[in-house]
Amino acid sequence: MSQKTMILTDPDTGRSLELPVRESTIGPPALEVSSLYREFGIFTYDPGFLSTASCTSRITYIDGEQGILRYRGYPIEELAAKTSFLEVAYLLLYGDLPSETQLTTFEDSISRHSMINESLKRFFDGFHYDAHPMAMLIGVVGSLSAFYHDHFESHENITQEQRELVAHRLIAKMPTIAAAAYKHNLGEPFIYPRRDLRYVANFLNMMFATPCERYRISPLAERAMNLLFILHADHEQNASTSTVRLAASSGANPYACIAAGITSLWGPAHGGANEEVLKMLGEIGTVDRIDQYIAKVKDKSFRLAGFGHRVYKNYDPRAKIIRDVCHRVLEELADGSNPQFELALRLEEIALKDEYFLERKLYPNVDFYSGIIYRALGIPINMFTAMFAIARTVGWVAHWIELTTDPEYRIGRPRQRYVGEPLRQIRPIRQR
Ligand code: SDX
Repeated sequence: MSQKTMILTDPDTGRSLELPVRESTIGPPALEVSSLYREFGIFTYDPGFLSTASCTSRITYIDGEQGILRYRGYPIEELAAKTSFLEVAYLLLYGDLPSETQLTTFEDSISRHSMINESLKRFFDGFHYDAHPMAMLIGVVGSLSAFYHDHFESHENITQEQRELVAHRLIAKMPTIAAAAYKHNLGEPFIYPRRDLRYVANFLNMMFATPCERYRISPLAERAMNLLFILHADHEQNASTSTVRLAASSGANPYACIAAGITSLWGPAHGGANEEVLKMLGEIGTVDRIDQYIAKVKDKSFRLAGFGHRVYKNYDPRAKIIRDVCHRVLEELADGSNPQFELALRLEEIALKDEYFLERKLYPNVDFYSGIIYRALGIPINMFTAMFAIARTVGWVAHWIELTTDPEYRIGRPRQRYVGEPLRQIRPIRQR
């Protein structure tokens, strides 16, 4: 079947340009415009990349209208119900779910890489006790590049073993570094990772154990966190993943590229929203104050954290899954009643009846409920985005691997519309 094309015609010159259409397995095809500037001397203009595909990927697929999210073709609902986070990590990295042997080998490798260099621990001493955990994550993860000099002359000469080592180290060390940031905030000693604990149980132990007493790991907390990590593992070319790809496109050290991703995730419009949701619920306080906040949204003086999404113009499937788990966690951990959860449910109910939200297709996203569960599990608010970063590290390294093996990829270097001053001469300072 011949390749589909589209014709672009310049009305001023009458010239036409035939542009190839690149088909996708599912979802919209893409009009390839890379020859446009060379042939027509014109750029495309798409702030925020609302209609722009930056790359070709096989990792995750989202359909925003249908509320579909699939990792390597598997629906998120099935993965959430039937797999562990490390099974999903293997799937995202290697392209399919592991056999039992493959999973055991993978889990063992991750466990073996979970310690951090002892001198890396001294980096935390440089942070004030109340440093935000995300600031510490950015600094310490970026400094992994000082320990692992994985500087590759070109993507071509990175071996599969090197890619795998980078991925396993980062997936393994992120929980250790995040828990260490939390311990630094508390002024408590760091707890070493343990080889006899599963990934999430190990993280909970590093977070909440102390040298003075053994910590009993709650199976419910382990199950809930496994699920939250699965839901946050990857999400196509979101802002932080695109940041990792752009940084990596120059061949930069991969650990430094992941630090760039953590930086972007921290923003309140992105992964920082889960922290903002709890602050927002605290500010609203009670159900009877919801209407006045909805009014503020309409006069643009307030944004509802946890609502809206660039892609999902229907319900974020992850929010649906998390909402159900919220019920269960709160029933088992509390007596089912949790004023903030009740407030969140009422806020969602009221917002989704309001024309302003329906018109703009603003639904709760993944961050709307996740913070409530984290809070119920004893995670402090300022650690919520760090939890997101632990999970999304899998997506970031999967995209780093995909980028370094993509024959089409080249250094990312967008163009711009220049609307500044025309050419002008410098006047002597006395005449300025
Ligand atoms: C994540 O990209 C991903 O995949 C991200 C993520 C992932 O897994 O990586 O899914 C994780 O980041 C989820 C999003 C978390 N962020 C928040 O919850 C912050 C609150 N939401 C927004 O700031 C906003 O909705 C964005 C950033 C998520 C999406 O922004 P867009 O697509 O650029 O939409 P927009 O800002 O252009 O808004 C369109 C309209 C505007 O109104 P009008 O100008 O048309 O009148 O909707 C309004 C906005 O004012 N709007 C909101 C709103 N979000 C959008 N109004 C009130 N509250 C909001 N939350």
